[in-house]
Amino acid sequence: MTTNLPRVAVLASGRGSNLAALIAARDRGELPVEFVLVGSDKAGAGALRLAEDAGIPTLALDPRSFPNRLAFDLALFEHIAASGAEWLVLAGYMRIVDGAALAPWVGRMINIHPSLLPKYRGLHTHRRALEAGDREHGASVHFVTAELDGGPVIAQARIPVHPDDDEGQLAQRLLPLEHRLLPAVLGLLTSRRLQWHAGSPQLDERPLRAPLRLGPQGLVPAE
Ligand code: GAR
Repeated sequence: MTTNLPRVAVLASGRGSNLAALIAARDRGELPVEFVLVGSDKAGAGALRLAEDAGIPTLALDPRSFPNRLAFDLALFEHIAASGAEWLVLAGYMRIVDGAALAPWVGRMINIHPSLLPKYRGLHTHRRALEAGDREHGASVHFVTAELDGGPVIAQARIPVHPDDDEGQLAQRLLPLEHRLLPAVLGLLTSRRLQWHAGSPQLDERPLRAPLRLGPQGLVPAE
């Protein structure tokens, strides 16, 4: 179904709980967007099943059937463009994306990452926060650029680290906050309150000097 709503594509490699949160926010009327495609590098990803159940077109592309990363990413992004998407969300998409392929999407593409960036880019973020003895951990949503987990951070959710926490407990406590953080940021983006301006985020036409924080009522400016 084609609507006049902002058109969003999502990429996910795994179970898709963040995708489920986006769909649920849309269904509650809190996120007025149309999901035009859910794509994955894993044919067995739970996210693809969730999308099918929600009636969203899906795409599974196997990186092994392409000669290199660039060829895969160019094909993937060609499909995304053909879907009519204006915005792109990485919701647990676990591949590095080639800089040339993502260049046309800079400013229109966000990623959720389970750390308080710039800390712990890459993998095993919960373990690394524990090993470092951090008292606080969290998740970030950032604009995607060619630098891995390195684009400007838009908003963060924070949790305390308890002395007896293990990786699983941290991940489990953080996930419900991720599920509020990602739809909230996507809503700001698709309503154009949040914009990419000369390499930096702007909110309501003012530079965002520090990442927004997820509070009990939603996103608020950092103190
Ligand atoms: C989420 O915790 C997300 O922050 C993380 O993967 C998980 C996906 O869960 N993303 C990354 O690590 C990206 N570098 P989900 O499939 O249930 O949404």
